[in-house]
Amino acid sequence: MTEPVLRVQDLAVYFSSRTGSLLRREERVLRAVDGISFDLNPGETLGIVGESGSGKSTLARAILGLLSPNRGRVLWMGEDLTRLEAEPMRQKRKELQIVFQDPVASLNPRMTAGSIIAEPLWTFYPQMESLQVEERTRGMMKMVGLLPNQINRYPHEFSGGQCQRIGIARSLVLNPKLLICDEPVSALDVSIQAQIINLLRDLQKKLGLALIFVAHDLSIVRHISDRVMVMYMGRSMEVAEKTALYRRPLHPYSRALMKSVLIPDPVRAREVKQEVWLKGDMPSPFSPPRGCIFHSRCPYQVPRCQADVPALRRMENGNWVACHRAEELDLSI
Ligand SMILES: Nc1ncnc2c1ncn2[C@@H]1O[C@H](COP(=O)(O)OP(=O)(O)O)[C@@H](O)[C@H]1O
Ligand code: SF4
Ligand SMILES: [Mg+2]
Repeated sequence: MTEPVLRVQDLAVYFSSRTGSLLRREERVLRAVDGISFDLNPGETLGIVGESGSGKSTLARAILGLLSPNRGRVLWMGEDLTRLEAEPMRQKRKELQIVFQDPVASLNPRMTAGSIIAEPLWTFYPQMESLQVEERTRGMMKMVGLLPNQINRYPHEFSGGQCQRIGIARSLVLNPKLLICDEPVSALDVSIQAQIINLLRDLQKKLGLALIFVAHDLSIVRHISDRVMVMYMGRSMEVAEKTALYRRPLHPYSRALMKSVLIPDPVRAREVKQEVWLKGDMPSPFSPPRGCIFHSRCPYQVPRCQADVPALRRMENGNWVACHRAEELDLSI
């Protein structure tokens, strides 16, 4: 059996904020990520899906050591990243890279495409010859579908999709082993989204990367993922092989997300999502529902759901599901 390259164990990130008057200060805690565990195998793609505010970006940042978790471990090739000092962690960054959501905002407008892509090389390999840096940069541009002769152009001279290609080239220039793409296509036109997803899938296969692909929509990750984790309010609701999940989700939230994307008309999808599949909005993260965190919006809730937190457990078909009623509900699509 292959050893996972990444093991995330009971990871939790809380944000606290103070409210109230001078006389009555109150500390409120927001559990952005609350006990997430999963393994990632070499060359595997895990899709992470959930509505906005589910904790996806916070989880991504905690895995990469960009913020410190309150609890849990992130084992990268067996080494706990949460315990590393600053310099060894900085060195690990070569292996662990991220692609951000907004390609235009995440690129420095005053740097050329070539400098943006080459910057990590200058940082980590200051001795590298300029000619070698340029050669590598041009090679990266070609690899992501940009013309190497665009090396001296600035971000505003590129389209959104091309800017995301620059972002991808930059994140791959150091030859990482893990790439986390945090909603890499959400800010792009629908017509461009498939091109970027295909590019990432091809690069993932060619370079043998372990990939985490974050999205708020199950349809986006369907094509690229081997397994999918569905997140809601900082917790994992279901983790499953792609085929099993899309054929028969076992968690009402997975089904609700799936149903809301099966209807192509965005206006209608919204109606259906809100009225039938997903009641109302996500509750305030400062006062999450007791018991099953999804119960306030679940059409299948029973009294037990308000009292007991359902554990994430493995079902007969191999899916991991956090729902008391997973055996009895028929949620086939
Ligand atoms: N730096 C922060 N300080 C306080 N709250 C935060 C911070 N970052 C994220 N949050 C909150 O944590 C929750 C999860 O946010 P986020 O991880 O960005 O979710 P997602 O990426 O799924 O949209 C949200 O309620 C968000 O408002
Ligand atoms: S545990 Fe209850 S409320 Fe939660 S998803 Fe299952 S049926 Fe719905
Ligand atoms: Mg996010």
